[in-house]
Amino acid sequence: MSGDRHSRMVSGYFSGIVAWYDFLNRFLSLGQDIYWRKRLVHHLRTRGNGLVIDLAAGTLDVTREILDCHPQSRVLALDYTLPMLIRGRGKISSADSAFFPVQADGRELPVPDNCADSVTIAFGIRNIVPRTKAYSEILRVLRPGGRLCILEFGTGKKRILGGIYNFYLTKVLPLLGRVISRDKQAYQYLADTIKDFPRSRDLAMEMKRAGFSRVFYYPLSWGIVYIHVGDKDG
Ligand SMILES: C[S@@+](CC[C@H](N)C(=O)[O-])C[C@H]1O[C@@H](n2cnc3c(N)ncnc32)[C@H](O)[C@@H]1O
Repeated sequence: MSGDRHSRMVSGYFSGIVAWYDFLNRFLSLGQDIYWRKRLVHHLRTRGNGLVIDLAAGTLDVTREILDCHPQSRVLALDYTLPMLIRGRGKISSADSAFFPVQADGRELPVPDNCADSVTIAFGIRNIVPRTKAYSEILRVLRPGGRLCILEFGTGKKRILGGIYNFYLTKVLPLLGRVISRDKQAYQYLADTIKDFPRSRDLAMEMKRAGFSRVFYYPLSWGIVYIHVGDKDG
C-alpha cells in the first residue's frame, strides 16, 4: 500500500474512534499511559522559548505535558487527523498562547529547516509509512543539537508477565476496543501494527542509519512500551 493510501486509512481509523480515544487509552493501559508520556517529555531538550514539535499529537496529551513542564516553550502540535486535534483542544487553556495545532503529514512537515529544539512522537511513528521519510523530515526541522524523543509500544513478541500481557494484546485489547468504540478495525490495527513493529534495538539501529546520533533507548512497564531518544549532530 502506498504511503498516501496508508495515511488516509489510518486517519480514517482515528476519526472513527476519536470520541473514545482518551477513555480507551486510560482504560486499556490501566492509567499507565499518563506515566509513559511524562517519561517521554522528561527527555526533551529546549532552551527558553524554543520550539518543540509534538508530531502525531492526536488529542494533545503530550502537548499538554510539554506545556506543563516547559511553560516558556512554544509547541507546534501536528497531526494528520484533524478531528483528533479538535477533540484535544479543550485540554489546552487559552492562557497557553504559545500553542499551535496544525493538520499536517509527518512525512512533509510545514516548517522551515533547523527551527525546532525537540520533536516528540508518542504512539505515532508506528503509523507513518515509510518511517524513513518521517526521520528525514524530523532531522531537517531539528536545529543542530536538537533531539527526537519517541514513545512506542514494544513488539509484544517477548513474553511479558508470564504471557498475560501477550494474551491481553492479541485477544483482549482488540475485543474490548471493538466493543467499546464500536469500530471493527481500529483496535485490531493497533494490535497488528504493534506485532509488526521493529524490536527496540532494531528501531535504535534504524534511527542511527537515518542519521541520528547518541541514540539510546529503554523499556517501561516490563517492555510494554519503549522510549527511544536520538540527537541531531551539531
Ligand atoms: C495513537 S495516536 C497518538 C496520539 C498522541 N500522540 C498520544 O500520545 O495519544 C496516533 C496519531 O498519529 C496520527 N498520524 C497517523 N499518521 C500520521 C502521519 N502520516 N502524519 C501525522 N500524523 C499521523 C494519527 O492521526 C493519530 O492521531
